[in-house]
Formats: sequence, C-alpha cells, structure tokens
Amino acid sequence: MTNASYPALRMRRTRATAWSRALFAEHRLHPSDLIWPLFVTEGSGVEDPIASLPGVSRWSVDLMVELARQARDAGIPCLALFPNTQRERRSDDGKEALNPDNLMCRAIRAIKDKMPEIGILTDVALDPYTSHGQDGLVDDRGRILNDETIEVLVGQSLNQAAAGADIIAPSDMMDGRVGVIRAALEDAGHQDIQIMAYSAKYASAFYGPFRDAVGSRGLLKGDKKTYQMDPANAEEALREVALDLAEGADSVMVKPGLPYLDIVRAVKERFEVPVFAYQVSGEYAMIEAAAAAGVGDRDGLVMETLLAFKRAGCSGILTYHALHAARLLG
Ligand code: PBG
Repeated sequence: MTNASYPALRMRRTRATAWSRALFAEHRLHPSDLIWPLFVTEGSGVEDPIASLPGVSRWSVDLMVELARQARDAGIPCLALFPNTQRERRSDDGKEALNPDNLMCRAIRAIKDKMPEIGILTDVALDPYTSHGQDGLVDDRGRILNDETIEVLVGQSLNQAAAGADIIAPSDMMDGRVGVIRAALEDAGHQDIQIMAYSAKYASAFYGPFRDAVGSRGLLKGDKKTYQMDPANAEEALREVALDLAEGADSVMVKPGLPYLDIVRAVKERFEVPVFAYQVSGEYAMIEAAAAAGVGDRDGLVMETLLAFKRAGCSGILTYHALHAARLLG
C-alpha cells in the first residue's frame, strides 16, 4: 500500500489529460473481445425486425453472410447463431435439432463457405426446436428429463460440428452434458472443436426478447427454474464451473451479464480460466430503452457496460451491440 497522502499524493494528477488517462487505463475494450449473436430465419432476402429488441432482426441465410462479412471487417472474431424454427418443424422431442439441413446448419455452412476465417459459436439446447419451448425433453408430469435430454444434445452438437461450428456452447443446464458432449466430439474426430459451457446460467427475467426472437416465448409453459440457477446463489455457480471444467470445457460463461459481474469476478479469481459473459437480450433492450427515453447517451451506455465486463475479468462478451461497438472502437 502507498504511504503518501494528500497533498503529496493527488489522485487527479493522472486523470488530468486525455494522454495520461490513456496511459493509465487498466482495461481496454477491443473488437476482438466481442461475440455477435445473430438470429436466422427461413426465406431469402428476409430481414424481420424483432419488436422487443429494437435494432435487431432475424435474417435469412443469404443476408446473414453479408452481416458476417461486416462483422469480420469490423474485427469481430466470432458469431453466435440462433435459429427461429418454423412452428411446423417444432415438436415435443425437438428432433429438428438433429436435421443436418436445419436452418442452423444451413447458416453455418453458408457463412463458413464464404468466410472460413470467422469463428462460429452454436448454442446447444432444445428450446428453438421444441413445441413447449423448454430446453430439454419433458415427461407427462412436466418434469425436464436430464439424461434423456443429454442424448439429444449430443446429437445436436455432432450435427452442428459436422456443419462447421467452431465452438459448441451448451446452454441447457442439464447435469453432466459437457463431459458426454466432449467424449462424443472426440469419438467423431472433432478434437479441435471447443466447448464454451454456459456454466452459470441463471433463471432470469432478462431473456424475454430472446424468446421472442427465436419464437419460443408464446410456446413456453412454466419456467426454467428446475435447471437454470437461482439468482440468489453464488457458491453454486462456482460448483457448476468446477464441474464443467472437469468435464472438459475450454471456457465458461456467466449469463446474464451486468447483474452477475460478481460471479464473473469470483470465477476468474477462483479458476484462472477464460470467462465469457452474455449481455443478454433484456440488458440490450434496457440500454436501448434508456437511450430512447433520453436517460443516457447510447454510445456511452454501450461502451461503459462492455468495459465493465473486461474490468470484472471477462475474456470476451456476447452482445447484440457487438457490430456497433466494434465500429465505435475502430
Ligand atoms: C436458450 C437460450 C436462451 C438465451 C440464450 N440461449 C434463453 C433461455 O434460456 O430461455 C438467452 C439469451 C438472451 O436473452 O439474449 N437456452
């Protein structure tokens, strides 16, 4: 600790000029810290705006390739893809997740075909494919079946891997799925495909606009509290992270983002592994609503919140503001 005190020590000295503030900045945001989530929909030439996520649309595969190009040109290293599966392709067992020609796989192949140099992260969970909107299989009493769900998740992961996904990101919160998926990837010769585990994923009120975006909000009966974490818990997040790392996760994620920076910090300090955070749809919508209401400057809110993730210890951030932020940084 420093012994000097005022007036020998004046903390404002290093803040006095722009050059000095730049020199003394402890953390920096860079476009390479950002992962851009994109929603894909059927058709061609389709841009379908999402009302609850102002400024975000669902895009058909052909237009998504152009977005990927813009992301790459802005220095964004990785995209996260989510499908809006047509109602008639959804079922109780979510088997469309296993279709090698599903919307997700077509989007992966189209982007990889034109831009193999950009990373693609794919979400593993059944909610975009189930008629009940749950992430897993449901029994006749409404319980989410853990081990039966894992079998489908393995098939989904292998399907995405075969299509060209680089990072498999299980967001389903079933127990034990990371280890089983890792083993299946190894067996199938996908030893270089990463797993980013949504390890500490909370049952959050901030996911509403996302569920609109993938079309599961109206379908969802009940909640996800028997698998997603209780927002009251922090110790439990560390146990989840420990398990996923032991099962072979290359990196872990905390989700939502800003309300859970204490978890990011705790995971980073305890495990010293790459930690990512997902600034989720409701957080994005709050920033947009604040800006629209004149509460704050949009660019300022975006940059300050993203920098906060870096300060907390994140290696990177999934954010719907990624392209905008990367361009501001560029
Ligand atoms: C699906 C999934 C969700 C999100 C990412 N993957 C929603 C949920 O768990 O209900 C939310 C992302 C966001 O709100 O931006 N398993």
